[in-house]
Amino acid sequence: MSKVVVFDHPLIAHKISIMRNVNTTNKDFRELLEEIAMLMTYEVTRDLPLVDKEIETPICKTTQKVLGGRQIGVVPILRAGLGMVNGVLKLVPAAKVGHIGCYRDEETAKPIKYYCKLPVDVEQREVIVVDPMLATGGSAIMAINFIKEAGVKNIKFMCLIAAPEGIEALQKEHPDVDIFIACKDERLNEQNYIVPGLGDAGDRIFGTK
Ligand code: PRP
Ligand code: URA
Repeated sequence: MSKVVVFDHPLIAHKISIMRNVNTTNKDFRELLEEIAMLMTYEVTRDLPLVDKEIETPICKTTQKVLGGRQIGVVPILRAGLGMVNGVLKLVPAAKVGHIGCYRDEETAKPIKYYCKLPVDVEQREVIVVDPMLATGGSAIMAINFIKEAGVKNIKFMCLIAAPEGIEALQKEHPDVDIFIACKDERLNEQNYIVPGLGDAGDRIFGTK
């Protein structure tokens, strides 16, 4: 079964509380999402392999550690996942970025895919899928299905807020994908929105409502 890491850090908790507030501006919401994504990336990349490299300091020659293994790919689930990409890229600037577009049908809450463009060498990369919200889990499950179909073996999922229902569904469908969550919320409501949540993440990032 996959690992579920729920972040327990005062800075992240404080920033999420501001994001949840209905009076927070789109600009502040975007900036906070990017900051939290950057902070989370620090932990999500903790197990990246290192290799020895010989370098020369102003003092002497020495063998030191540098990143070795697989390179990283970041795949936001459009639209709201876009708000996390720059946070990841600040720490991993060489990462390549793919995009998967899907939205939830308003009646059924089932995901509908409309776009998929992944880096050509994606199967050789470790992929971090980003989306602020894990509600029913349908969007994340569908996105990860496409990424696996492209040959990727090593996938992590990183989100801001998750409902227990979404975590369970994602773990069941993709038991090999570790899940990193900034905050685990109580439940879904009748419309499959996360409670207490923060509303529609895409609308709050882009100001579309
Ligand atoms: C939101 C969110 C996730 C999805 C989560 O996207 O960004 O992709 O809902 O819900 P689920 O776990 O039940 O699938 P939305 O469908 O609102 O599209 P948008 O990002 O374009 O607004
Ligand atoms: N998508 C969102 O943006 N918010 C929710 O609470 C659930 C799905």
